[in-house]
Amino acid sequence: MPTMTTTTETHLVREGSELDRREFFTKLGLGSLGVATAGTLAFYYQYLSPNVLFEPSPIVNAGALDRYPLGSVTLDVNSAIYLVHLAEGYFSLSAICTHLGCMTAWKPELNMIACPCHGSRFSEEGQKLAGPAPRPLPWLKTWMSDDGELMVDRSVTIPQFQFLRV
Ligand code: FES
Repeated sequence: MPTMTTTTETHLVREGSELDRREFFTKLGLGSLGVATAGTLAFYYQYLSPNVLFEPSPIVNAGALDRYPLGSVTLDVNSAIYLVHLAEGYFSLSAICTHLGCMTAWKPELNMIACPCHGSRFSEEGQKLAGPAPRPLPWLKTWMSDDGELMVDRSVTIPQFQFLRV
C-alpha cells in the first residue's frame, strides 16, 4: 500500500529544514564573529606589546686573572674581545677590525693581530701596523671585580695604554 504524506506533515518537514537552515546560518555568523574578534584581539595585543630588542649585556666577566699568563693574548670569540697580559699590566681590546668590522685573529707566530678580510695588521696593543684599517683597535674599560675576576665593559672605550695593574 503506497504511503501518503498529508499537507500538515509536509509543512512540518519544511518547517524543520527551515529551522536547520536558520540554525546553520546563525552558527556560521557567530563563528565568523568569533574569528574576527580573535583576529582583532591578536592585532591589538601585538600592537600594544613593547617592540623591544633585548641585547646581551656589554659587561663581560673574563674570569680569574690566572687564566691570562704574562705575555698572553687571549681571544674571547663570544665577546669579540682580546684579553692581554703584558709586563705593564692587563688590558682588553675590541677584536672587531676598525676597517669594515670583521673579527680579527691573534697570530702568535707573527706576534700580531690580523684581519682576514682585507689584511689589516695590529700589534698586541692594538696599534695599526698595516692595511686599510683607519684606527687602532679600541681599548675597553677593564677592571677587577671584588671576587678578583677580570671584568670588561665592551661599551666603554678608554685611552690606549691605561693598563690594569694588580
Ligand atoms: S675589515 Fe679588516 S681590513 Fe677590512
